[in-house]
Amino acid sequence: LWTPRNIIEDSLQAIRAKVENDRVILGLSGGVDSSVVGALLHKAIGDRLTCVFVDTGLLRLNEGDQVMTTFAQHMGIQVIRINAENRFLQALEGVSDPEQKRKIIGRLFVEIFDEEAGKITDARWLAQGTIYPDVIESAGSKTGKAQVIKSHHNVGGLPEEMNLKLVEPLRELFKDEVRQIGLELGLPYEMVYRHPFPGPGLGVRILGEVKKEYAELLRRADAIFIDELRRHELYDKVSQAFAVFLPVKSVGVMGDGRRYDFVVALRAVETVDFMTARWAHLPYDFLDLVSRRIINEVPGISRVTYDISGKPPATIEWE
Ligand code: XMP
Repeated sequence: LWTPRNIIEDSLQAIRAKVENDRVILGLSGGVDSSVVGALLHKAIGDRLTCVFVDTGLLRLNEGDQVMTTFAQHMGIQVIRINAENRFLQALEGVSDPEQKRKIIGRLFVEIFDEEAGKITDARWLAQGTIYPDVIESAGSKTGKAQVIKSHHNVGGLPEEMNLKLVEPLRELFKDEVRQIGLELGLPYEMVYRHPFPGPGLGVRILGEVKKEYAELLRRADAIFIDELRRHELYDKVSQAFAVFLPVKSVGVMGDGRRYDFVVALRAVETVDFMTARWAHLPYDFLDLVSRRIINEVPGISRVTYDISGKPPATIEWE
């Protein structure tokens, strides 16, 4: 019988039988899949799980702290947090091509994860949040590229080079099942039902060259948008929503003064499979409120636009 509780019981037994008394490493990203694996492994093997959380500096507002609060503080899981913002910003300096940025971020992510994982010398296993759709996707390509991409962007680590064996307790589960298990394991609802967030993070939501100043402005605008979506009970009605930073200046007036500041675009879509998507028809009054809040509360942004492009032809992300 498929109940979250039964699945958890079976997984716990399978994990214990597999890893025995060994130590396991997990790359925690804050996303649903790695979070559920973390909670599951902790339940199965307790202190023999060590998580590595690489904070790229390209995460959303307070996201790094939230990951630490949930896992380290509330659940008592061992999490090593690596603050790598400067390394990522340096590596991205002067780079504006989206695919180039993705490559740089993915590569550096794996490099940093490997550095840290390499210090945990008694580990024998690397846990990954691979779910059934990832398995299918990689089966379709000879090289297993989808899995490589997933592991680079979402979980990190190269098990072959690190001499680690893989443990993938979600391999047979669909996303919805993973979520139910997450709730049953006590993960917060907001974490389990969070919109997807791309591995390269704000690196592909800041158009062109990534700068710390841009990331800070974007984080604040994005947080206002998401905050209001939640407050108006619209968050769960859209599949994905976020702000995009446009490094373009536009003129505005505020009080007696003239402003010449940056532009932010809001994107919200409804989709089932993320292959096609409709732009979310959010209420005008709601968009008005979000726009006013962003312009009033985020100095440096003087104009807000709403993206009304469907996919196809437009992709969900801008880069
Ligand atoms: P697009 O922009 O291709 O996005 O319509 C479809 C879904 O994929 C996510 N996405 C990514 N996820 N690494 C990721 O892990 C990436 O480089 C990446 N690019 C897009 C996007 O957020 C959306 O959910």
